[in-house]
Formats: sequence, structure tokens, C-alpha cells
Amino acid sequence: MAHEQHRHDHDRGLLAELHWLWKIRKFWSSDLNRALVDLADPKPGERGLDVGAGMGPAAMLAAKRGAHVVAVEPSAVMRAVCRIRRLFQWSRRRITVECGVAEDLPVAGGSTEVLWAANAIHHWVDHGLAFAEFARVLSPGGRLVLVDEDYDDLEHPDHAAHAGHEADLTPVDVDSISAVLRGLGLEAVGRHEEVAGVPAKVVRATKPA
Ligand SMILES: C[S@@+](CC[C@H](N)C(=O)[O-])C[C@H]1O[C@@H](n2cnc3c(N)ncnc32)[C@H](O)[C@@H]1O
Repeated sequence: MAHEQHRHDHDRGLLAELHWLWKIRKFWSSDLNRALVDLADPKPGERGLDVGAGMGPAAMLAAKRGAHVVAVEPSAVMRAVCRIRRLFQWSRRRITVECGVAEDLPVAGGSTEVLWAANAIHHWVDHGLAFAEFARVLSPGGRLVLVDEDYDDLEHPDHAAHAGHEADLTPVDVDSISAVLRGLGLEAVGRHEEVAGVPAKVVRATKPA
């Protein structure tokens, strides 16, 4: 089954996953994640979903604001760090860490007022399945904000190191993503804009109430 295949792709064992730890500083906390939470603006009592949450920088911030957050993450190492980190939060009762992928979200339909993803869109193997999942899990009136840094933009400070990184993953085209979301009944806009001082690809969408 396609969903099982996505899970399997990330079930690579502990040693193979330790490469994430090389980037621990950025994955622990980043201006981009802070800016994304400002854009998504989770409110107290709202149910939030962080897709590809990693070590949970955005999930922790959103819970601090009073939202109930499900951090969905396929990597066992990332989930372990996120779960340990959760224990040190005053807001830990509002944070749940779940194994899952964008293409097969472990939450009920209509259960999410606000969904976001930071630097994760290019990892989703099947964009069609992922966006159908987002349309399913959002509640009427719910919103989403997806942000991926645009390393192909010459203005990005890490352009030299990371340009072309989507070639091995899934290309991110904000216009086609927003068109797919509109086809699923959402109001959606894709833009290239600065987020936290770096060029980024941004998709915003709302499910009609
Ligand atoms: C570049 S990291 C970003 C993590 C976090 N959002 C951040 O900004 O620090 C991308 C994350 O997406 C996760 N990921 C990979 N494939 C995924 C999928 N199909 N669905 C959801 N998340 C996925 C990876 O395990 C990784 O934690």
C-alpha cells in the first residue's frame, strides 16, 4: 500500500538517521520556524498540526501560545528528540508527537484548525496524497501555511551550498501546489517571499467555513 511504502522509506534504522544530528542547531530552533508560527498564528485552544515537525521547534512555540499541537514526524530519531523536548515544556499536555507522513496523517478528518510545515514540502513523496490529506484534516474555516526556504534563489545566504537540493527530492512549485489545493476546494495562494530574512516558497490556504 502506498502509505505503508512512505512509512517504510523513513524506517531506516537509528544509525542511518543520525545524520540529522549534524544539523541539530538549526533543527532545534530557527528564525524560520519562529516566523512560520507567527504566520500560522495558532490561537489558545485551537488544534494545530505540524507536518514534518522534526525536533519540534514550531510545535513547541505553538503549544506555548496555547494551541493543542500534534507533531507528525516519520523519523524515529526526530520523534525521540521531540518527545524528550516535550517533557521540558510547561505546555507539554498540549503537545502530542505522532509517527506519520504528510501523505497519511494520523488524525481524524476535520480535526485541525491550523496546519503548518517548515522546510518539509520537498520531502513529501506524493504531493497529491499530501494535499488531499490536508483538505481532509482541516476543519471548516481551518487554515494552513507551508514554508520552504528557496535555496535556488541567488539571494539565499546558503544558495551555494544547497541550490538544486530539490532535484533529489520533490520539486516545490507554489503555483501548482496552490492550484491543487484550489481543486480540493480550498482558497489558496502560493508566493515567493522573504520569511525570517531569507527567500522562501510560501503557500497559504483556507478551507471555506
Ligand atoms: C528539513 S526537516 C524540517 C524539520 C522541521 N519542520 C524544522 O523546520 O526544523 C524535514 C522533516 O520532514 C520529515 N519528513 C520526511 N518525509 C516526510 C513525509 N513524507 N511526511 C512528513 N514529514 C516528512 C523529515 O523526517 C524531517 O524531519
